[in-house]
Amino acid sequence: MLKRAIGPGSTSSSLTVSTGEILCASPAMIETVRVARASAGSSAKVLITGESGTGKDLLARYIHTHSDRSQGPFVAVNCAGVAETLLESELFGHVRGSFTGAYRDQLGQLQLAHRGTLFLDEVGEMSLRMQALLLRFLENGEIRPVGGDEPQSTVDVRVIAATNRDVEARVAAGELRADLLYRLRVVHLPVPPLRERPEDIPLLVDHFIARSGRRVTVSPAAMRVLMRHRWSGNVRELQNAVEQTLALLSTDEIEVEHLPPSVRTQSIKLVEEGERRRQVSDDLYDALVRDGYSFFDHIHPLFLSRDITRHDVRELVRRGLTTTHGNYRALLTLFGLRDDEYKKFLNFLGAHDCTVDFRPFRHGERGAGGATRKPRVLFAGVPAPGRSGSDAAS
Ligand SMILES: Nc1ncnc2c1ncn2[C@@H]1O[C@H](COP(=O)(O)OP(=O)(O)OP(=O)(O)O)[C@@H](O)[C@H]1O
Ligand SMILES: [Mg+2]
Repeated sequence: MLKRAIGPGSTSSSLTVSTGEILCASPAMIETVRVARASAGSSAKVLITGESGTGKDLLARYIHTHSDRSQGPFVAVNCAGVAETLLESELFGHVRGSFTGAYRDQLGQLQLAHRGTLFLDEVGEMSLRMQALLLRFLENGEIRPVGGDEPQSTVDVRVIAATNRDVEARVAAGELRADLLYRLRVVHLPVPPLRERPEDIPLLVDHFIARSGRRVTVSPAAMRVLMRHRWSGNVRELQNAVEQTLALLSTDEIEVEHLPPSVRTQSIKLVEEGERRRQVSDDLYDALVRDGYSFFDHIHPLFLSRDITRHDVRELVRRGLTTTHGNYRALLTLFGLRDDEYKKFLNFLGAHDCTVDFRPFRHGERGAGGATRKPRVLFAGVPAPGRSGSDAAS
């Protein structure tokens, strides 16, 4: 069912796909689910690709549920981590006596999936010999059990395969047969990683909270942090972060400080090779001023771990002073600092050559002394803002 989204974070133009299982509001995921839904009506083979934890399994089940095979079996076979001979027997069955321990004839999963769907998970891991056997089945529907001389019954099975591998690269490396890939990829469903579809996050978060049975809301700042996080483990990692947060939560609202430290810190760690430094200070500023981070809890560790440079800190201070019209003390509120941290803050700036002359920022501020006013010495031993003189050059 497609319906207009009303969840937090979704724009009025976005759609929420409510299938009872697959939650999404991002255009990319809505398109993937749309194609999945359209493909459900046929028996075309489907290849689902995407990183681990993006919902490939869920999509395969969704297609089966919406197909006219939904009353038939959904049989999932994981092709990874199974010895080749076992996988062959698992898929095609075996005849009695064909190997040690084969005491009786055994049907394969392909036969068990008759009139239903066979989900070949992690298909990219199959050996080349297994790929040849699978291809033979896909081309003529023949099932030849291990140890059997003759092909046995043909079956009516719809095949859906999934992999988290880069299939083109596997083909180029000679590890995946191109002809098998073409056979499996009649319909291709690429599932984007969660970090590329932040619009889905509010829905997923609400879903995981609801599933816990708790009546808990998420503050807008905390939701922004969740949406900006670079989820490498995808939906599973998000689910884990929500469950972790709920386990320790004693209030009925999730604030930024309740989120797991890895999520809190990494979401403002947007420092990537080649990223413009100006953008870094903008991100830091937004994190502090808009998202409720605090200077010593979040920015300072990034500086110590060299994820941000003194130039970034200086730019951040400049941005702050622009807002406060050169008032250093007003940075306390802006940067999430306590009053008793003022000296520590100034010491930090002084020690790392990050002190910025406040005078140019005073222009336009009524009654604040103006640019001609001599800078105060704020604390003994701490250079007055504007006296370091080194910031202007860098
Ligand atoms: N859109 C979604 N809505 C609700 N739950 C989701 C969604 N996507 C993923 N999940 C949940 O996230 C978890 C991981 O999903 P799933 O097992 O389908 O991923 P996968 O791509 O098959 O992962 P893997 O590559 O590790 O096999 C599951 O618990 C699933 O229910
Ligand atoms: Mg899976």
